[in-house]
Amino acid sequence: MTTVGVLGGTGPAGRGVALRLASAGFDVVLGSRDETRAGVTAATLLPRGDGVIRGGTNEVAADCDVVVVATPWDSAVATVKALRDALRGKVVISMVNALVREGKELVPLYPSRGSMAAQLAFALPESSVVGAFHHLPASEMEDLDSGLDADVVVFSDSAAGRTLVVEMVNAMPGLRAVEAGSMSLASAVEAFTAVCISINIRHKAHSYVKLAGLSD
Ligand SMILES: NC(=O)c1ccc[n+]([C@@H]2O[C@H](COP(=O)([O-])OP(=O)(O)OC[C@H]3O[C@@H](n4cnc5c(N)ncnc54)[C@H](OP(=O)(O)O)[C@@H]3O)[C@@H](O)[C@H]2O)c1
Repeated sequence: MTTVGVLGGTGPAGRGVALRLASAGFDVVLGSRDETRAGVTAATLLPRGDGVIRGGTNEVAADCDVVVVATPWDSAVATVKALRDALRGKVVISMVNALVREGKELVPLYPSRGSMAAQLAFALPESSVVGAFHHLPASEMEDLDSGLDADVVVFSDSAAGRTLVVEMVNAMPGLRAVEAGSMSLASAVEAFTAVCISINIRHKAHSYVKLAGLSD
């Protein structure tokens, strides 16, 4: 079975993704800068299915077959750069959004290469960076009884990477993968997260993206 590591996995985003990956049967390492925090957090997550979640350092998480980056945007590049050797040749999934709060809204920032996924791809030239999971509310992801029925927009310049991530997402409960295209879509996908969160703040909701008009 494919193993999946989550860098920054102790935060709400990483926990939700880890829980649904393990519920799809993947063995997950919840990565952290603090091994003890990772272990304590992993023990609180109870997947349904054959997968397991264990805590570890970010270094142990980076040794997995596929790696998800779930740190804040302003530490993502430094985190993956330090793990570049372990990440060589692997699919690295970016769910990172560069956003800043302004009053009741979240507004998008535009990193130097236009998106966080492109920045990570530049930092990891020998990995296949794939964007996914950007629009999902962590609270709904972490509650397996939330009734979540969301789409996950997947993009990458690596066709093989997109295919792998689409298969992984489609195995996760409550999620449907929508293959969108290349890395050139990254800034639009990431910036739209600001729209989603601002809507949720304004409407006191946990809405998510579900595209109409696609055949399954
Ligand atoms: N929250 C959501 O609903 C959601 C949904 C989709 C995508 N995202 C994206 O997912 C990412 C994580 O979101 P989050 O809400 O889970 O963030 P978070 O709670 O602020 O951070 C996640 C984890 O990153 C680690 N971290 C914090 N500062 C760090 C630093 N300076 N260097 C390295 N690691 C650091 C921490 O783990 P340790 O202290 O254990 O190392 C923390 O638990 C963000 O980029 C966000 O845009 C979030």
